[in-house]
Amino acid sequence: MHRPTDGHATLARLSPSIWVGVAPRGDAGLNVTSFPAESTAVHWLTDGHATLPSALAESTDAAAPAPNAPFGRHLISIADLGAAGIAEVLGVAEAFAEVERRAIPKVPTLRGKVIATLFFEESTRTRLSFETAAKRLSADVISLAVATSAVKKGESLRDTVETVEAMGIDALVVRHSSSGAPTQVARWTKRARVVNAGDGWHEHPTQALVDCFTIRQVIAERTGDDPASLGVSCFEGLRILIVGDIAHSRVARSQVLAYSALGAEVTLAAPGSLLPPSLEGWPVAVAGDLDSALGRADVVSLLRLQAERGSGAYVPSLREYTAGWGLTARRLPLLADHAIVTHPGPMVRGVEIASDVADLPVTVATRQVANGVAVRMAVLFLLLGAEGAGGPRD
Ligand code: CP
Repeated sequence: MHRPTDGHATLARLSPSIWVGVAPRGDAGLNVTSFPAESTAVHWLTDGHATLPSALAESTDAAAPAPNAPFGRHLISIADLGAAGIAEVLGVAEAFAEVERRAIPKVPTLRGKVIATLFFEESTRTRLSFETAAKRLSADVISLAVATSAVKKGESLRDTVETVEAMGIDALVVRHSSSGAPTQVARWTKRARVVNAGDGWHEHPTQALVDCFTIRQVIAERTGDDPASLGVSCFEGLRILIVGDIAHSRVARSQVLAYSALGAEVTLAAPGSLLPPSLEGWPVAVAGDLDSALGRADVVSLLRLQAERGSGAYVPSLREYTAGWGLTARRLPLLADHAIVTHPGPMVRGVEIASDVADLPVTVATRQVANGVAVRMAVLFLLLGAEGAGGPRD
């Protein structure tokens, strides 16, 4: 973090030329001459806000990448980000986490933007945290209630998307049971940005970003560091064990991409029937059994059996699955003293995690949920924040 010479604001560097500033409330009129000389874009998270570099403010090309984003026009996959992009999202999320600690955790950054959540599959955490994030950024939020929409009359996904976009929507947050659906949606949109909120077995990129943010936060607390100052170096050599239904998990695919991009050593632990048929190209090791793998792990990342994708057919019984691969009270002493347990939720207590273990401080699932808002604020800000709109409205 950098403090400008007037001393009453904090700047976080996003990229060589882009900074996010967090100023005290009511302190919007800061003297821009006090910013670092190399800054060309400072995005203020205050009431008054936002000096934009003319090059970005004048951008009107709807097909252009989001000018601030470390990804393209859309966020579909962690592969769109790479290590530098993940670091950038985490850095912006830290600035928004500071906003969240305010008495009134709201900034005008996306005022005038409209964000639609299109969830064709159930969700509690992802949908509510995206909607909370959008509202904290002062965007207007609409939510398609699929069960009572024209989808039930047979309207296609493409017609639904084109209908919603025709209303002048700036971003679509899409969850779908079909892998690749958000990719298709991104092809059909003319100006709206698309965020993948989980598609089939494919990916859940914002969940992996939340998990990275949370792991770094815990490490920073223990070392007494500012999380932002750690960058992503704290992931180098970190031993992360992903346990459970890897085969059907979009979270696991995004986690593997994110953790390995940041230099972590990733190991998978699952019965053979719940591993993907081929792990060719996956930068992972595979543990033969859970008990011996637990003690080596700095982070144990648990996954739910994806019953809605037929996972029950791949295990003899839930009881046997838990006996072999669940984080039971018996296994708790096998964890390293410093280990933490993550879970993206929803947890099925008594199956992949014992209820008592879920409630211990070692399990940071609730913290992951809390961090979901700041991380999704960062994603929406990076997609939409510097343009004035998602492109021209025609
Ligand atoms: N982790 C996650 O995607 O949870 P939801 O299904 O509740 O959104």
